[in-house]
Amino acid sequence: MAAVKPTVGISAAAAISIAVISYFLLSNHSSKLRSKQKNKNSANEILNSKKKKKKEGLVSAIGSTPLVRINSLSDATGCEILGKAEFLNPGGSVKDRVAVKIIEEALASGQLVKGGVVTEGSAGSTAVSLATVAPAYGCKCHVVIPDDAAIEKSQILEALGATVERVRPVSITHRDHFVNIARRRASEATKLAAKQREATVMEANDLAEINHDISWQEECLHTLSTDCKGGFFADQFENLANFRAHYEGTGPEIWDQTGGNLHAFIAAAGTGGTLAGVSHFLKEKDPTVKCYLIDPPGSGLFNKVTRGVMYTREEAEGKRLKNPFDTITEGIGINRLTKNFMMAELDGAYRGTDKEAVEMSRYLLRNDGLFVGSSSAMNCVGAVKLAHALGPGQTIVTILCDSGIRHLSKFYNPQYLSEYGLTPCATGLEFLDPH
Ligand SMILES: Cc1ncc(COP(=O)(O)O)c(C=O)c1O
Repeated sequence: MAAVKPTVGISAAAAISIAVISYFLLSNHSSKLRSKQKNKNSANEILNSKKKKKKEGLVSAIGSTPLVRINSLSDATGCEILGKAEFLNPGGSVKDRVAVKIIEEALASGQLVKGGVVTEGSAGSTAVSLATVAPAYGCKCHVVIPDDAAIEKSQILEALGATVERVRPVSITHRDHFVNIARRRASEATKLAAKQREATVMEANDLAEINHDISWQEECLHTLSTDCKGGFFADQFENLANFRAHYEGTGPEIWDQTGGNLHAFIAAAGTGGTLAGVSHFLKEKDPTVKCYLIDPPGSGLFNKVTRGVMYTREEAEGKRLKNPFDTITEGIGINRLTKNFMMAELDGAYRGTDKEAVEMSRYLLRNDGLFVGSSSAMNCVGAVKLAHALGPGQTIVTILCDSGIRHLSKFYNPQYLSEYGLTPCATGLEFLDPH
């Protein structure tokens, strides 16, 4: 069994302390001039490398996350169950990688220019990651979300400097679904930029003409119209930069961290980017590595993977005006095939329930001190089901997507859980259905 290599070196804080302590000790070492000079040089090297790192900025702190052995699950199953600690990214989730890749590719292709606005229709982690990294590229961020999304979501995004447009929730097939509005906002911003290039002073009437279909919040108007440099729709579901972020980043990191000694990978899919990028990479490296989906309630992907059929006619996304309560797990599960998911190379799929995810999260807290969000808990449910199916001695990798801190109002709220009959009560792993 390969040991998990320590991945990131030391944290920035630790690096600074080491640099300062080293410098202090070294410069106080008085007796030998030569060794003093040598020490001074190495201290300078440390300080210089620290300076270099500082220059690279926030983006350099994204990725290279540790791969941690989940001791409780590994010991209980006889497998090595390893979790990629993506909650340690600066924006708090696996989506930091995607935000960086989407923005970098858009800038490289010229579809987005410095000063432009990246738009996204999402109340989730991707929006937070885009809002976090956009300023590092000199860009702005505009997020369109359904108005029934928790108010903390807009508050976080606004605190990060994004503009937030809350709209009525409607079906994805409707032109005013928040994803469709986000797409439209990007092209409106691009049109606006073109107009501004023609005439330096934009008349308020022109703006009203472009945005005739919906009344914008004043702040959005202001942000997008002030010196508008155009827009770019991030489109995390269909933009294959999402896949590439994981194919070029997460996948190779997992391969290196396990020394190529892994038997299986399992994750849930929201856009499908993580599952697709990682599975694609691992299969190219070693076709015997098995890759699986773990699917939450209300998602059609399990059926697609196991039976080739996504949903019944009644269940098709777009037939509903608004999704009913499907699952407590946020950010995962979907009822349409995305370009990103279609890149996944899968050997099979498992189903997880809300109850299993809630119980797993508490089990991880009690036994490992791991405080993770609902999708991470579901991924661990999948990892244990897979361990039971494959038998002892296997190395199984999954993703710890974000921290529990993002999930206080539902997943970690006892009152909310009791309303849905999800109050955790297990003491061990007896809550798991093997299938
Ligand atoms: C918290 C969280 N976990 C997991 C996922 C799923 O990842 P992917 O979109 O790569 O399938 C998402 C996607 O939005 C998410 O927000």
